[in-house]
Amino acid sequence: MTKNVGVLTAGGDTPGLNAALRGLGKSAMYKYDLQLVGFYDGFRGLLHDRSILLDDSTLSGILTIGGTILGTSRDKPHKMDVGGKLQDMRDAMVDTYNRHHLDALVCMGGGGTQKNAYGLMEKGLNIITLPKTIDNDIANTDVTLGFDTALGIATEAIDRLHSTAHSHHRIILVEIMGHNAGWLALGSGIAGGADVILIPEIAYDIHNIADAILDRSRSGKHFSIVAVSEGAMSKEDRKLEKGLVESKQAAKEKKEKEKTRKALEEFYSTQSERTLKLSRELEKLTGLESRVTILGYVQRGGTPSARDRLLGSMIGGSAAALIAKGTSGVMVSVKGQTTKPVKLETVVNKRRKVPTDHLWVETARRVGTCLGD
Ligand code: F6P
Repeated sequence: MTKNVGVLTAGGDTPGLNAALRGLGKSAMYKYDLQLVGFYDGFRGLLHDRSILLDDSTLSGILTIGGTILGTSRDKPHKMDVGGKLQDMRDAMVDTYNRHHLDALVCMGGGGTQKNAYGLMEKGLNIITLPKTIDNDIANTDVTLGFDTALGIATEAIDRLHSTAHSHHRIILVEIMGHNAGWLALGSGIAGGADVILIPEIAYDIHNIADAILDRSRSGKHFSIVAVSEGAMSKEDRKLEKGLVESKQAAKEKKEKEKTRKALEEFYSTQSERTLKLSRELEKLTGLESRVTILGYVQRGGTPSARDRLLGSMIGGSAAALIAKGTSGVMVSVKGQTTKPVKLETVVNKRRKVPTDHLWVETARRVGTCLGD
């Protein structure tokens, strides 16, 4: 008997999502006798039952297109803004699931989506997730969908910044996304040959960075590229962050909790100002002109790389195969050359950061890149 399957894409978009939707949908149709319905704009579409039948014509011609044909949002099912009030809307989403007689719901997303999907699993839904984020920070998978494309874009940006930094004898700081994980900055920094790479996992001392730049100058290289992960911090800021986190944890009263939460939120929202400040200070310490490029959303836009198209097709197809077998409560993770279902419990509330003894860290050090420590 034909099974009914729902799918949504949630969190920040990534290149390769459409390839995953196509991989899931075409496998569902041609191989596994599943009927697929897509919900628009993440969990909000599931709440409001805004859906579309994903058939051969809807899934045609989308393999190479960036973004997601379904749209996305950062809504959380257990904390939805409904009429200006935060409410737990999971029961209403369960109703949509039942109205469509779904046998499973596939949620494609990053760390937040894995947690939100788990919340729906606790309400009794059959959930399968796919790991998707340019940050590459989802636990229990070797890699996430979208990372390869973003890595290519950031690397190309560093390549392009090289020639202008060289011509003007400047320091150029390039701020790279990645949330609180340094995979994107480290990977593109190594691939693009950045002279300094700053990642959240390694707190930096500005004097070490200035020394590295001055050493280059003394050897006749009067320019430097500094790849700064958006979550990178100086040792002083790391201490400040620790204090803010501790006071948030210690806050007992509701009012205090709100105040400390806001203080931490404010601290994180000023990262680009920290990059600009770092640039000004490096200018003073080295006597070299310094400029900043914030790559921003360009890293998430446009055509997916061949690897992400392949990965999307693979994990989408694997999700269809799992649903046909009746498996649920798992994320389709990538292990080496293959995919493997892993229990959602092993993924939620965890972030995969760059281990400081990772080969990428060692590789950067071996080629003389300054990591700021
Ligand atoms: O998680 C992907 C990501 O692009 C992060 O690298 C970045 O910190 C964040 O999303 C930006 O979020 P938003 O799209 O909500 O501005």
